[in-house]
Amino acid sequence: MLLRLMRIDLISRYRAPLLLLVAILFSQGAAIAQPTSVREADEKCAHCHSEIYRTYISTPMANASGIASEKLIPGSFTHDSTGLDYRISRVNGQAVLAIKNRLDKNEGVTRQLKYFLGSGHLGITYIYSINDFVFESPVAWYAASSGYDMKPGLAELKQAPPSLPLSSSCMRCHMSAVQASDTGTLNRYQGPPFLHSGITCDACHGEAAGHAVAGDKKRVVNPAQLTSDLRDSICISCHLEGDVTVERAGNSMLNFRPGESISTYLAFYVYGAANPTSRGVSEVEQFAHSRCKLASGDKMSCTSCHDPHFTPDVRQRISFYRSKCLSCHNQPRFATEHHPANQDCTSCHMARTGAENIPHVAWTDHRILRVPEATGALGTEVRKVDLAPVFSPGATDRDLAMANYKLMLDGNPSLEQKTWDLLHQLKDAITSDKDALNALGVMSAERGDKSEAEHAFRRVLELDPHDLTALSNLGILLAKQGDLNQAISLLQRAFDRNQDISGLAMNLARVECMAGNSSEARKPLETSLIYNPGLESLERLLVEITNCSVSGTQR
Ligand code: HEC
Ligand code: HEC
Ligand code: HEC
Ligand code: HEC
Ligand code: HEC
Ligand code: HEC
Ligand code: HEC
Repeated sequence: MLLRLMRIDLISRYRAPLLLLVAILFSQGAAIAQPTSVREADEKCAHCHSEIYRTYISTPMANASGIASEKLIPGSFTHDSTGLDYRISRVNGQAVLAIKNRLDKNEGVTRQLKYFLGSGHLGITYIYSINDFVFESPVAWYAASSGYDMKPGLAELKQAPPSLPLSSSCMRCHMSAVQASDTGTLNRYQGPPFLHSGITCDACHGEAAGHAVAGDKKRVVNPAQLTSDLRDSICISCHLEGDVTVERAGNSMLNFRPGESISTYLAFYVYGAANPTSRGVSEVEQFAHSRCKLASGDKMSCTSCHDPHFTPDVRQRISFYRSKCLSCHNQPRFATEHHPANQDCTSCHMARTGAENIPHVAWTDHRILRVPEATGALGTEVRKVDLAPVFSPGATDRDLAMANYKLMLDGNPSLEQKTWDLLHQLKDAITSDKDALNALGVMSAERGDKSEAEHAFRRVLELDPHDLTALSNLGILLAKQGDLNQAISLLQRAFDRNQDISGLAMNLARVECMAGNSSEARKPLETSLIYNPGLESLERLLVEITNCSVSGTQR
């Protein structure tokens, strides 16, 4: 039986085996408390700031997420290469996603959609849960095509995707007061995964409840009064991704609060620092390269052009942005002689272009180029080898190592040697750093240094006995060395909290099988099928292990 060392970071997203659909209807999760809407959450500010509240509440940021049935776009989509039909509709007032194989007589499966994510000016995706586990739907609605399509990365699959765990790191920019998932899990929540939908006032002004009672200025963050670094940190926390974002050692990004520096929590890296590319979510990077910003320095910021409390509609937008340009470019010739026939400064200097990393969407070129013709050729091709930090003062070698590691796992093997060199050098400095130790453990194991790997994973488990990566990788390591009982106990501990992860279920089943326990081996597979109904790899293994006591370890 082939034992694969499972990298937990890799399991979920887009490397998936076939989902053959069967008619299993299952529990859709107990009713948990609902998050409050942005309207309710921000009402406490409305008494005294009624105009700001009124305009803010209809911006895309305020409407970035919410309850699915309140923003359901009915529709359907067939994914040709898998033969799966996806249908989004309202059934008895509930938002429902039904997935069915066209060629199959079975009913398929249905998911009750709980939340939406995306205001819809670009697109909308939906979220569902099974028991306490939260997942992303595999299809999203795109404004550009006014229809549904597979999520980025899934379209190319010849086989249907397994369930996609939704982590808090994904929600953090789209919801407010996002909660950490249960210890040792990727996506399990006992309560609501976030307390408020949309982006609340608090997301930019800090927890201002004290101020809301007394109106005391001191108890609220006014971004305009902060140093430029802290002011910019607020927008950067959600509007920058770079090629990779790394959580700084020991700091959860969920703890960032307005008034703090984002670089305490996150480090951002890009390939070839000098080239802002047409990545989505890169306005921050592009803007930093504009002449306007370079010549104006700290006094210019995102709010030189954007009013965070107000989004101009299509009729207002030309004059709105023009007036922002003219507030600095106030020589009379710009208002009168410079292309008077076209009032839209941004149509020439901030063109909309496609994003290279996200299909179906267009972005505004924040480099503010002088010659409009040049806007088609956004960025030049960079060699994906050298990472440099951006907007991350204080980023360390450890952060660089983790940035390389993450991108390596994401499919850039050319970073392997570099990652190893960095991590190995840091060996003695990362003894309390779970993420780095796990990376060191995984890489050591791949390189055949079992004792170093075991040492790293055991240290992680001292720091956090529930750590998913350490439990599952150490389990596999011990199984390979023949210590099946200990391996089973570690894998079982991981699986108890992560029943939805099919790769984990398969590893546990294989090790049980090696130990000759065919009935025990079935259990994790059957449980995981509740979350991944019909997943071919699970079903295949279920068949293979029927006679594992006889031939199980031979393959
Ligand atoms: C009881 C009335 C009241 C409520 C409720 C209230 N504010 Fe204020 N707020 C004020 C007053 C008064 C000022 C000072 C205005 C001034 O001096 O110009 C102020 C100023 C502010 C400022 C600017 C502070 C500065 O340093 O200049 C911000 C930001 C702010 N409020 C945000 C909020 C937010 C967010 C909420 C909801 C959590 C809220 N306010 C609720 C009365 C209120
Ligand atoms: C660093 C913050 C950040 C993270 C993390 C993030 N997003 Fe986004 N996302 C954004 C921003 C900002 C936009 C809006 C883009 C714009 O308008 O420029 C966006 C746009 C979207 C949209 C389109 C919504 C619309 O109509 O504007 C969807 C859907 C979406 N994201 C889904 C996701 C999912 C799913 C994840 C997790 C896998 C995720 N995002 C993680 C910041 C983030
Ligand atoms: C996306 C971030 C963001 C959100 C969300 C946000 N604000 Fe602000 N707010 C700012 C920034 C930035 C400033 C400073 C603007 C400037 O440069 O003068 C500001 C300034 C203010 C001020 C003081 C200046 C003024 O315009 O009177 C008040 C009051 C205020 N906000 C209230 C609110 C309230 C109430 C909400 C929620 C309904 C809210 N804000 C939501 C970013 C935000
Ligand atoms: C908590 C995360 C968060 C913070 C903080 C944040 N944004 Fe956003 N912003 C988003 C998301 C998510 C979207 C996309 C919403 C959607 O369309 O679904 C967005 C959309 C926008 C848009 C496009 C929609 C529009 O209103 O035109 C602008 C502009 C924008 N943000 C500016 C800012 C600025 C300026 C700041 C800092 C003052 C800021 N944002 C802070 C998350 C955030
Ligand atoms: C906060 C002030 C400010 C704002 C707002 C502003 N700019 Fe600028 N911009 C500048 C400065 C300063 C320069 C540099 C002027 C110079 O070098 O002589 C500049 C330069 C430029 C250039 C020349 C670029 C180059 O590569 O030579 C263009 C084009 C431009 N701005 C367009 C715009 C447009 C369009 C807007 C509105 C969408 C805008 N600017 C908003 C301050 C600003
Ligand atoms: C010189 C003016 C200017 C500045 C400064 C500026 N923006 Fe923009 N931004 C625009 C314009 C113009 C649009 C397009 C608005 C539209 O089409 O309605 C835009 C659009 C956006 C959008 C919507 C998605 C997109 O790219 O089309 C986001 C998000 C955004 N800006 C964020 C930011 C952030 C974050 C900053 C600060 C790092 C920033 N902007 C600074 C002018 C500016
Ligand atoms: C029809 C397209 C178009 C529109 C609309 C337009 N520009 Fe330009 N702009 C250009 C071109 C082309 C150049 C380069 C001219 C050159 O290099 O001689 C330029 C140059 C500039 C420059 C830098 C050179 C200089 O003359 O100082 C600035 C600043 C600028 N534009 C600002 C603006 C502002 C502000 C607006 C809106 C009020 C605007 N532009 C509207 C096409 C446009």
